[in-house]
Amino acid sequence: MVQSIAVVGLGYVGLPLALAFHHEGHSLIGIDLDRRKLDSIRRGKSYLPDIEDELLSKAVNSGRFDVTEHFASIAHVDVIVICVPTPLNKQHTPDLSYLIRAGTAIAEYVRQGHIIVLESSTYPGTTSEILRPMFEEKGLMVGEDYYLGYSPERIDPGNGDHPFRTVPKIVSGVTEACVRRVSQVYERVFDQVVPVSSTEAAELAKLLENSYRFINISFINEFAILCDRMNVDVWEVIAAAGTKPYGFSAFYPGPGIGGHCIPVDPLYLQWKAKEIGMSSIFIEASTDLNGRMPSHIVKQVQDCLPGASLEGARILVVGVAYKKNINDVRESAAVEILQLLAEQRSRISYYDPFVPSLALNGLELRSVELTEQILENTDCVILATEHSKLPIPFILDHAPLVYDTRNLTKGLNGKAKVVRFGGGGRHYNNGA
Ligand SMILES: NC(=O)c1ccc[n+]([C@@H]2O[C@H](COP(=O)([O-])OP(=O)(O)OC[C@H]3O[C@@H](n4cnc5c(N)ncnc54)[C@H](O)[C@@H]3O)[C@@H](O)[C@H]2O)c1
Repeated sequence: MVQSIAVVGLGYVGLPLALAFHHEGHSLIGIDLDRRKLDSIRRGKSYLPDIEDELLSKAVNSGRFDVTEHFASIAHVDVIVICVPTPLNKQHTPDLSYLIRAGTAIAEYVRQGHIIVLESSTYPGTTSEILRPMFEEKGLMVGEDYYLGYSPERIDPGNGDHPFRTVPKIVSGVTEACVRRVSQVYERVFDQVVPVSSTEAAELAKLLENSYRFINISFINEFAILCDRMNVDVWEVIAAAGTKPYGFSAFYPGPGIGGHCIPVDPLYLQWKAKEIGMSSIFIEASTDLNGRMPSHIVKQVQDCLPGASLEGARILVVGVAYKKNINDVRESAAVEILQLLAEQRSRISYYDPFVPSLALNGLELRSVELTEQILENTDCVILATEHSKLPIPFILDHAPLVYDTRNLTKGLNGKAKVVRFGGGGRHYNNGA
């Protein structure tokens, strides 16, 4: 059945989801408080690398895709999907202020028959304990008058290997009637819908997925540091272990885990664990290790520099997004590396084809062009993010020293002295 759907929050999650619903014939209203985003959508200009302007323009011109900052239009839709941020506050505990604000605004217009789904990542209990009372205060009974569920978002921005609809979609509801309604909403957009028995199970599934990545990447970073100390190349060790056809999943080292999800969601779980008198030692250890990664990388770079001094050293960081092929710099380790270098009075610059400018300590840095001259005039280039189209051979031909946190230089020849994180402390000039 074709429905009208409101997507609240048009960011990395909400905009692609809104377009996917629209593609299947639904009428869409996108609601966001950020006027620049709304203007950009109206002009058919995408602010997400994964979404092409043409796709956006087509949707906007179809007559079935409107955007607004006003929630009143919610009264006329069948389904409301919430995709607002769920960050951490200064105490590193859940900040649900965006969700509460959105929920309060939706509650003004909630009515009989509405299906409301939360997609934001959050701790177990949020849907039933935070959102449900907001709507029931309006005199509506969940599962009878309106339907409420949770469906974790699994989008992986920048990763074109898994088309949106092919990634199984976990769905849940506060009651059985709710999960049935929520499943029907998503069945049109996803090849496989995976119902679970409670919203808490669905909320926890998301936290499990992301905590699993967080803990494993943190462990491989610690393992890489160990390998460096033992003069063994971690990349070779991972490749060797990866030949085991079962029981081993490879994770790869890097300068630290960033983004709005992987370093954040485990702390939502940790917060909930503490609320019930427990604590995850894995999350605690991984958070600690991850927090130390940027300074570890900076220290490694310092040790490679002539005179082992960062002061005045001309350091170019290549890639500042927190992961490849996207423009998102939230919690990015590369940004923290730049900050630490600035504190040490290094002369910093950066290159990132996805991030034209970057606010750092009140300054606005602009991505430099990678020219021979710029590379020759550096003391060190740090390869921080593995965007697909980086000109690594060109960098190796012109920079005097490259510190490679991602094994991007493997097998490549060049004039630069190269040091790889986890490379066993071995320097090489001719590829490896
Ligand atoms: N980015 C990812 O890769 C990803 C993947 C899976 C899950 N998630 C989760 O999805 C949620 C959204 O993440 P995102 O990356 O899309 O965030 P985002 O910051 O890119 O987008 C959120 C949007 O919500 C808008 N917004 C904030 N408060 C609002 C309100 N009260 N009403 C209407 N709009 C409001 C913001 O202006 C912004 O445009 C988070 O919980 C995140 O953890 C993100």
